[in-house]
Amino acid sequence: MSISGIMNAIHPWIRLPLIVNAPMRLIALAPMAVAVAHAGGFGFLAAGTDVGDLKAELRKAKDLVQNTFIKGSDPDVLPIGVGFINWGVELSTALNAMKEHIPAAVWFFAPKRTEDLIEWTSEIRRLSNARTKIWIQIGTVADAVRVAQTCNPDVLVVQGADAGGHGLAQGAGVVSLLPEVADVLEEAGLGSIPLIAAGGIVEGRGTAACLALGAQGVVMGTRFLASKEANIAKGYQDDVLRTTDGGLSTARTGIYDTLRGITGWPSRYNGRGILNQSFWDAQKGQSTEENRRLYNEAMHKGDQGWGENGRLTAYAGSGVGLVKEVKSAQDIVEEVRRDAIDVLSKLFHTSSKLQYKLG
Ligand SMILES: Cc1cc2nc3c(=O)[nH]c(=O)nc-3n(C[C@H](O)[C@H](O)[C@H](O)COP(=O)(O)O)c2cc1C
Repeated sequence: MSISGIMNAIHPWIRLPLIVNAPMRLIALAPMAVAVAHAGGFGFLAAGTDVGDLKAELRKAKDLVQNTFIKGSDPDVLPIGVGFINWGVELSTALNAMKEHIPAAVWFFAPKRTEDLIEWTSEIRRLSNARTKIWIQIGTVADAVRVAQTCNPDVLVVQGADAGGHGLAQGAGVVSLLPEVADVLEEAGLGSIPLIAAGGIVEGRGTAACLALGAQGVVMGTRFLASKEANIAKGYQDDVLRTTDGGLSTARTGIYDTLRGITGWPSRYNGRGILNQSFWDAQKGQSTEENRRLYNEAMHKGDQGWGENGRLTAYAGSGVGLVKEVKSAQDIVEEVRRDAIDVLSKLFHTSSKLQYKLG
């Protein structure tokens, strides 16, 4: 079977090229996941590091799915996925939260040790009789090979350094990372695992490029921050719409986690966010204590706390400059998929003409 055939077999309602929303902690919840699925994409809701609300969120998704025509292969499986940040979650709690409504996929990211994912994979396959597919997000060739060999995932998400939010502090962009992962997996006899690209992709051109690299589809986080279904403060969303030139206006840094008191990320991870006064003051040598005091003060300013002169965290990827408008998740999925197909057919046309000329 072709790799696209494999993707369609495991998630029958999806349309290719596959558009996926990233499971963004606190932001991507049931409404986003179901809207993306409804548009023929794959929708994830984020459990992140806290599964306290997961059971309730899955119930919400179940209710929302009942009003749509998403065709899963199994009526007892919810046609959406759940994203975990593995270092912060107890496997037993996660399993318990998913007993009532089995999701079509789980997404693993950032375990304390890569080997921890072996148990996560086998226990979730056992709970769901292998009806829950295993997606794993990795950011290096070495991790891709390690998880492919030990977990045999159904899908690998290849996250490049342009990604918004957390990712590896040291990593390559998706343009070089994805084809190298594809080649090395092929050489290891693991070439049938579908690859999905992530990091800096916000529209049809980037999606078409990722298909050329060997991906079956793309994950977008930053693009969906400007969706109607995002559970996001207006000040944060406005910041995403305002920001241009993402290479200059965002950076990978640990400062935002430090100021928010978030600890526990394995040391090789940090987060890409929009630069603001918190970042600049830290660069100038301001003490963390004073910076945190100002951060906490900014939290009382509501939407005014974000922005170039603000201090609050706005995690976003370097593709942020291409995000100009808030749209529904359904419109985003349909537009990106259509534009990618358009780009590819224009390229196909150009290359056919060129071949004809070259004779
Ligand atoms: C605001 C935000 C929150 C994120 N939260 C998570 C998360 O909870 N779990 C996770 O696996 N990835 C998370 N990510 C990373 C995404 O999985 C994905 O790799 C990234 O969004 C892709 O890059 P892009 O933002 O340029 O589209 C987050 C990204 C953003 C922008």
